Amino acid sequence: MIFRQLFDQASGTYSYLLASRRGGEALVIDPVLEKVDRYLQLVKELDLKLVKALDTHLHADHVTGLGALRDRTHCITVMGERTKADVVSMRLGDGDQLTIEGLALEVIYTPGHTDDSYSFVMPDRVFTGDTLLIRGTGRTDLQNGDPRAEYESIFGRLLKLPDATLVYPAHDYKGDTVSTIGEEKAFNPRLQVKSVEEFVELMNNLKLENPKMMDVAVPANMKVGLPQEEIARRGWAHSAADALALLGKSDIALIDLRERSERERYGTIPGSVHVPYPTLQESIRSGGMVYELAKSTGKRLLFYCAFGERSAMAVQAAQGAGLSSARHIEGGLDAWKKAGGPLVH
Ligand SMILES: [Fe+2]
Repeated sequence: MIFRQLFDQASGTYSYLLASRRGGEALVIDPVLEKVDRYLQLVKELDLKLVKALDTHLHADHVTGLGALRDRTHCITVMGERTKADVVSMRLGDGDQLTIEGLALEVIYTPGHTDDSYSFVMPDRVFTGDTLLIRGTGRTDLQNGDPRAEYESIFGRLLKLPDATLVYPAHDYKGDTVSTIGEEKAFNPRLQVKSVEEFVELMNNLKLENPKMMDVAVPANMKVGLPQEEIARRGWAHSAADALALLGKSDIALIDLRERSERERYGTIPGSVHVPYPTLQESIRSGGMVYELAKSTGKRLLFYCAFGERSAMAVQAAQGAGLSSARHIEGGLDAWKKAGGPLVH
């Protein structure tokens, strides 16, 4: 496995780059906007293809690099399903898996620092975001934080992982880079409590100042979605209601860009074919499935995904590949459901 821990000095943030092999797909966790050039340089140097960028929660101390990475690489932006960000390409819930080629991270919902905090578990390590830090825990006094929830997340979930599990947090201000679950159990001063009440008392009396960047970072991080006006202006978007009227028309080919797990969990639009977003580039080339479908049948392509972000990127790519009939459903399956569109499970 390729694994890099990257540091942003200004915010004390750790970001992580993961891939199963040279030449393979890569994932970035908790990227910082100012460091995006550095990540992309490293991705290039290691001959990787960035396919997903993840935030463990909505950060208050730095602006996320999610949007910039998506704009520059067309990768999929990912957060937990409780996020208040306007649009990320993919949202995951407790028990889901975040996958890239050769790697799978199990998603666990670990609220407390914020109500949208998730941890990501691999067989030998866990990315804890700001829920569990090295010899510390994330503050619980901002962003719908809740010390009781944090206690449950730490004692009920994270500390149940094997003691040898490596702990990689989203921040450190002392220069520590990694710990283990066993070490934190034994030596984390915040965890040496006898009850949830004692933990709550401790967390409620930290008297911390607000993060310097908070007033800038929180609003910026809530607006990470791909600007879609240009796509609509070019006539490449259908509202969910318009798309509903096209359902069942014989010259429409509905293409679902989501992953299998999303299809199983949320259902699909009847009659759609599955072309996972990571395979799209190949599929829209001459000889590819989508390309030949459009050219040989004359069907109009109608892409959709979860929230309209992957499909917005897909429609641009398809247009670029000469598939001029390509459109997408603005707002994705989320908008489709709100418009009363039928789903099959
Ligand atoms: Fe945080």
